[in-house]
Amino acid sequence: MSAPPNPLVVALDTSDLDAAVALAEAVSGQVGMVKIGLELFTAAGPSSVSRLAERAPVFLDLKLHDIPTTAGRAARNAGRLGAAMLTVHALGGPEMVRAAVDGAAEGAGEAGITPPEVVAVTVLSSLAEAAGASPASLAFEAVTAGARGAVVSGDDVKVVREALGQDPILVVPGIRPSGARSNDHARVLTPVEAMEAGADRLVVGRPITESTDPAAAAGAILEEIGWR
Ligand code: C5P
Repeated sequence: MSAPPNPLVVALDTSDLDAAVALAEAVSGQVGMVKIGLELFTAAGPSSVSRLAERAPVFLDLKLHDIPTTAGRAARNAGRLGAAMLTVHALGGPEMVRAAVDGAAEGAGEAGITPPEVVAVTVLSSLAEAAGASPASLAFEAVTAGARGAVVSGDDVKVVREALGQDPILVVPGIRPSGARSNDHARVLTPVEAMEAGADRLVVGRPITESTDPAAAAGAILEEIGWR
């Protein structure tokens, strides 16, 4: 069995591509992926993916959610860019998830590159119940429709892992190293709590990006979970 990949994903939440590139350079030896979210993508566009992919694998967090045809076409465009992972919203439904998975594979095929792993964002338990679905059922549906895994909150990772089994990738944002501020998250998990609950990937933004030494902050998180 191959060793698990470095689980740490750094969210480069900035509108300034040069700042994002500098951050990616600072942490590239320490992290598994860098995440481009809506802020950076809407500021710097598709070329942000190729620039950052030179430094580290890119998690393209576009959270696609539209009719299947539109989401599929957007995923096809995204699939050409060279990202390692792409997000869609599980609430878009299985048909949309399938269209996005197929679109991403098609785009990557056209570019002659490996397709991004498509992971489906579930929603917090409280919101999911209002929408008539649990995070576990949303994640299960998305994986059945071809998604490689799901993005789940700290509150939900354990139950989703139990529902999905070991194979799907579970990505967990809202992680705070012990002692760090929670910022705007209602509930945070420490890196150890998230890994023990079944996370494969930990998304961490400000505790790393706002640190005076981002590489050391990333290294301290890996040390906390005993990853080497
Ligand atoms: O700075 P911080 O660690 O709070 O950054 C969290 C990152 O995770 C942000 O990029 C945000 O978009 C993402 N996130 C998410 N889903 C959530 C909470 C945060 O994708 N439920």
